[in-house]
Amino acid sequence: MTRKIIIDTDPGQDDAVAILLALASPELEVLGIATVAGNVPLELTSRNARIVCELAGRADMPVHAGCDRPMARDLVTAEHVHGKTGLDGAELPDPTMPLAEGHAVDFIVETLRREEAGTVTLCPLGPLTNIATALERAPDIAERIERIVLMGGAYFEVGNVTPAAEFNIYVDPEAARAVFASGAPITVLPLDATHKALTTRARNAAFRAAGRIGEIVAGWTGFFERFDKEKYGSEGAPLHDPLVIAWLLRPDLFTGREVNVEIEVDSPLTRGMTVADWWGVTDRPANALFVGDVDADGFFGLLTERLSRL
Ligand code: BDR
Ligand code: CA
Repeated sequence: MTRKIIIDTDPGQDDAVAILLALASPELEVLGIATVAGNVPLELTSRNARIVCELAGRADMPVHAGCDRPMARDLVTAEHVHGKTGLDGAELPDPTMPLAEGHAVDFIVETLRREEAGTVTLCPLGPLTNIATALERAPDIAERIERIVLMGGAYFEVGNVTPAAEFNIYVDPEAARAVFASGAPITVLPLDATHKALTTRARNAAFRAAGRIGEIVAGWTGFFERFDKEKYGSEGAPLHDPLVIAWLLRPDLFTGREVNVEIEVDSPLTRGMTVADWWGVTDRPANALFVGDVDADGFFGLLTERLSRL
């Protein structure tokens, strides 16, 4: 049986790879893609999502543009990591497929109300603005969501955009707070997991050997690696967002704990911090499966094999 998913995303090279992995995987039925402002402004994330669908031969995929700014703050973007377009690293033509009609938030609400309850998984790969806005507008959808599997946050690895916060949660902490309070089952792929899934020379070479799409992916990773290599002194960069899709395909590659996660929204110093009770030192009830580790070779093997199918 296939699992129905909606990908909510701000591409971003790693978002793009996540979308390709999902579209290459017969276990998943992508019902549509919702775009959000994050790595780059909404106009570009909406453009990039369509470029990726066309690359995968899926010009039929509904791509809905969503929120162009966080719920209560100014937008913070990450061109210093992802480049001016968000997809720097490969020369690709502008998309010809149009955006689907209707706002992404309406698409999320309508899809969850239309499909049988408990059968649609949301996969947020960027700031949680669309998801939280949908929950605010239509609180009835919370109990219809099968699971929210998101990339965001950190515990031991703490922050990548500030010393305390990971980018997706930092950009829209109010949205993140609403999502973690929603009562929907949640899986979190935080920096603790993604920083164990680093690109390397050998892994990039394997992408290149996987065919035309693999070469484009290697172009993207080659571009955004430069930032993390310099920052962390590592051989490559964490390929964050595809871990969300990989968790759906091969949860056996991951380990984690059911913990309580609260989001800091008030402190200017620690805005967007995911306060994860990893050691169970409070009696706050668990609200998320917080992933701490991944079999990196297993993940890259899966990803490379799937890219070769496109
Ligand atoms: C997250 O932020 C973005 O830059 C990436 O696309 C990923 O979703 C990592 O902190
Ligand atoms: Ca992202």
